[in-house]
Amino acid sequence: MKQAADPASLAHYAVLGNPVAHSRSPRIHALFAEQTGQPITYGRELVGLDDFETAIEAFASQGMAGANITVPFKTRAFELAQTRRALLTRRALRAESVNTIAFDHGQWRADNTDGLGLVADLQVRHGVALRGAAVLILGAGGAAQGVIEPLLAAGVKRLIIANRTAKRAQEVARRFGIEAFAWDELVAAPATQAIINATSGGLEPEGVTMPRGFVESGLGRAVICYDMMYSPKPTAWLEAASGAGCAKCIDGLGMLVEQAAAAFAFWRGVLPATEPVYQQLRKDLAEQAALAPAAR
Ligand SMILES: NC(=O)c1ccc[n+]([C@@H]2O[C@H](COP(=O)([O-])OP(=O)(O)OC[C@H]3O[C@@H](n4cnc5c(N)ncnc54)[C@H](OP(=O)(O)O)[C@@H]3O)[C@@H](O)[C@H]2O)c1
Repeated sequence: MKQAADPASLAHYAVLGNPVAHSRSPRIHALFAEQTGQPITYGRELVGLDDFETAIEAFASQGMAGANITVPFKTRAFELAQTRRALLTRRALRAESVNTIAFDHGQWRADNTDGLGLVADLQVRHGVALRGAAVLILGAGGAAQGVIEPLLAAGVKRLIIANRTAKRAQEVARRFGIEAFAWDELVAAPATQAIINATSGGLEPEGVTMPRGFVESGLGRAVICYDMMYSPKPTAWLEAASGAGCAKCIDGLGMLVEQAAAAFAFWRGVLPATEPVYQQLRKDLAEQAALAPAAR
């Protein structure tokens, strides 16, 4: 029989975000802990939009071991990590966005594992060839910034970014030396093999705002549509892509599991196997969809 861990020896982690109720990270890290025998707990914390910096400082000072940062705080987490002279990984520095922090005895370490998660999910799990591909990213927030360099490193030849707020896409494009395309003119954007939805519109009741005509003209022309969001039923964005004729529609569950495994390794020095956890999460979502047919 398995011995219960001594509560005093447990290391505590959580995901901080707003919203955060939808997050499957606690379930994933509980499965990783079970698989690897690492003595951790992992919760979720809803943080007020104005409270991120004070909330995470309080979290660290309470003796927590580390945190994941989710929407909309990743770029603020990067700024705070810099202010606090955290040890930042090269990829977090390049992304200017942080999704993983370790509070090692007052010396913070910070990383961004989103890009690694996306590339692993696309290439390894879904067999998508990125080398030489043209890719369009929708959104220019913390998640988009985290995946750009890893996509380029994987061989993406032409990377285009478009964002509802044009200035943000232009700034990000300039920083990474990629192309920005005007949101309202997306209908005229060049065809790309893959379109990645890195907006948080799917978390809002109205969904992702799309320029008129783009669903038919853009989403349908892509070979692959990838939504970083995931939900028990196909996301509204993926349903639109599929309805417009896109043959391969992939949600962000695999990315979530892969980035979580890299975060777990960053904290614990042990890399968990991701496939069994991905399969379990997929099963969880299917069960939830069957229980609540109307739920998203
Ligand atoms: N599967 C995974 O592992 C994974 C990992 C990371 C992120 N994500 C998901 O990716 C999404 C983005 O996260 P983030 O951290 O980048 O958030 P963020 O920093 O807050 O950025 C949000 C982005 O979405 C855009 N946006 C928000 N509402 C929109 C709407 N209704 N229509 C069109 N665009 C909209 C924003 O545009 P403006 O600049 O115009 O406001 C901005 O570009 C979230 O849904 C998050 O859950 C998933």
